[in-house]
Amino acid sequence: MTSIASLTRNDFPDGFLFGAATAAYQVEGHKFGGAGSCHWDTFAATPGNVLRAEDGALACDQYHRYEEDLDILKAGNFDAYRFSTSWARVIPEGRGAVNREGLDYYDRLTDAILERGMEPHVTLYHWELPSALSDLGGWTNPSIARWFGDFVEVIDDRIGDRVASYATINEPWCVSYLSHLLGHHAPGLRNIRAAARSMHYVLKAHAEAVARLRGHGRNNLGIVLNFEHTQPATDDPRDIRAAVTQDATHNRWFIEAIAKGRYPTEALEGLEPYLPRDWQEDLKAISRPIDWLGINYYTRNLVAHDAESPWPSTSPAQGHLATTQMGWEICPEGLEALLLRLKESYVGDLPMMVTENGMAWDDHLRNGVVDDPERCGFIRDHMAAMQRAIAAGVNLKGFFYWSLLDNYEWAFGYERRFGIVHVDFDTLKRTPKASYHMLKDLLERT
Ligand code: FCB
Repeated sequence: MTSIASLTRNDFPDGFLFGAATAAYQVEGHKFGGAGSCHWDTFAATPGNVLRAEDGALACDQYHRYEEDLDILKAGNFDAYRFSTSWARVIPEGRGAVNREGLDYYDRLTDAILERGMEPHVTLYHWELPSALSDLGGWTNPSIARWFGDFVEVIDDRIGDRVASYATINEPWCVSYLSHLLGHHAPGLRNIRAAARSMHYVLKAHAEAVARLRGHGRNNLGIVLNFEHTQPATDDPRDIRAAVTQDATHNRWFIEAIAKGRYPTEALEGLEPYLPRDWQEDLKAISRPIDWLGINYYTRNLVAHDAESPWPSTSPAQGHLATTQMGWEICPEGLEALLLRLKESYVGDLPMMVTENGMAWDDHLRNGVVDDPERCGFIRDHMAAMQRAIAAGVNLKGFFYWSLLDNYEWAFGYERRFGIVHVDFDTLKRTPKASYHMLKDLLERT
């Protein structure tokens, strides 16, 4: 086994893809190009939701600077760019009239990636729900599947002939549970009925998108799920039970529906009373085959029993591992275990890609340089974990670092920096960090 310090592209299978990821609202600048209001604009404008009430109006201005960003990516020896298409940019009211300017932008972006010899990997929904649909209940409205399907067809009609892969939805757990039960993301609800419904409808929307795109003859369809490495805080049976419940709602709900056409019993225990009537009937469509699975992995989570709370009666516990600027524990072994678990219990040899993995750090630009040894170590350790999983037979096809750029980190505004390229949010100047240069060397073709 190669030592972590000397890891290179050659230690991965031929054709393994190395890319970097971003998402529309986090980088583009949503005030440009005729985009409609989305629920993140209004969430950010509501007191108390987002650090310093920052929003994505300007972000990194990738809308105007995409060529520069792609040049940086290419010069870093990357093979692929993962970006997302904003629903509110393309269909400002969510349904009906298409904003040509918005669609033109994704057309130019796709071509600009290809012109540089890289692959465009498209995520169709990374959280910019048009406000007009939010007014109608957004992800809790059963019609969302049809509305989403219509949007997806608009995108595919324009760029589908050049897209390397599609992910229907980014992180359905965040779209539903985090945003409708925990209230941390837009629309900021704390309501178990809304959570259960959105957990189901987000999968129906995925199924609808898959059906529409299959109808267009596409065979590069996947979904991006976020997983954590869940462990009980202690060996007390109540904590063990709490970890099982959390694993069921966070890690198993979506993959079990897609891979096996069912929801985990331990999650239904609390959520079934709030699911829409006849939910079982949708599982057949939800579990239609996909072509690849995207995995976002950042951390492990320790879970304790919380006797004061109604179901799921869980609360997070602090572990002893080193943490990132997000307070997330660094646990590369969790990624290896996850990849093996997905292979063994859910997807077998279906191609998988790590579509996000990365860390936030309180980076500083000094004399034109950002030295980020912590991020370099993080990346190497997680690449080594991927490599071990591949050696153990996991069909892993690629890895996208999150993120190419420092960007709008949702409820944390611009404070949390995940990029391998530093962005000065006053001047928008890009400066590649030491981690970028490390990856550039590591990815050089020899
Ligand atoms: C993921 C999101 C991505 C980014 C990272 C840090 O949950 O998909 O947009 O915010 O976390």
